[in-house]
Amino acid sequence: MPLLKHLSCFLILTLPVFTRAESANGYFARLLRCIYSSPDLSDMVYIDSFYINKFMFIQFNSTVGRFVGFSNWAIGLAESWNKASFLITERAGVDIYCRNPMKNIDTPDRNKTVKPKVMLSLVKQAGGKHPAVLMCSAYEFYPAHIKVSWLRDGKPMTSEVTSTMEMADGDWYYQIHSELDYTPKSGEKISCIVEHGSFNKPMIYDWDASLTESERTEIAIGASGLMLGIIIAAAGLTYYKKKSIGRILVPN
Ligand SMILES: *[C@@H]1O[C@H](CO)[C@@H](O)[C@H](O)[C@H]1NC(C)=O
Ligand SMILES: *[C@@H]1O[C@H](CO)[C@@H](O)[C@H](O)[C@H]1NC(C)=O
Repeated sequence: MPLLKHLSCFLILTLPVFTRAESANGYFARLLRCIYSSPDLSDMVYIDSFYINKFMFIQFNSTVGRFVGFSNWAIGLAESWNKASFLITERAGVDIYCRNPMKNIDTPDRNKTVKPKVMLSLVKQAGGKHPAVLMCSAYEFYPAHIKVSWLRDGKPMTSEVTSTMEMADGDWYYQIHSELDYTPKSGEKISCIVEHGSFNKPMIYDWDASLTESERTEIAIGASGLMLGIIIAAAGLTYYKKKSIGRILVPN
């Protein structure tokens, strides 16, 4: 079997994570996988699968500790790979390809928790018939399990919470966003409560309705508008004065 002999050589010599090759005899692929669920990576399983024309003909599973063939010819090939130094490389694979890279990825200590950064923001101001929308966002926490809820004057709000989206940040951390539709009343206190393993008690974040972002903007615009008015008035006055002075000084 010249193809298989060629393949064996090829496989032993190349160690990329995912290999694809085409030959006259078909389409070849190799796929390495690391499977685990325990935070300390102790249950890591390394799987190295070899495909030819989408048929998985040999697989190395670190739990099994040797190659297994899935057709008559592949069983023979697996036997020869199990006698070769390739088996030693593969047995080390669970550390080399899985645990070590995972450990070296900049991750939070997986036994520890990371406190969320919480932000309260006004998504939509109340106006006419539509209610105000507040959003409580928690960022960069670990692990994923979290609870975000709302209080109005210390009492839980349930019916008004519209949506909660929890998602992976893609770098081991998580984020969550909870939106609250509510009709503001003067003198009330709206708070967001975040419960997470990194806190020893539920954390309460009060919404400061007295100065919302858009109000701040309006005040800023108002102030600059006023300043502009004063400058224009002053310029006008100066111009008028000059003009009148000029009139006075220019003899007729
Ligand atoms: C690896 O082998 C173990 C033990 O036979 C088995 O439980 C597990 O499902 C295998 N994993 C894969 C992905 O085939
Ligand atoms: C994480 O916890 C596991 C068991 O709970 C322990 O075996 C391991 O040493 C811990 N790792 C660190 C880095 O603390």
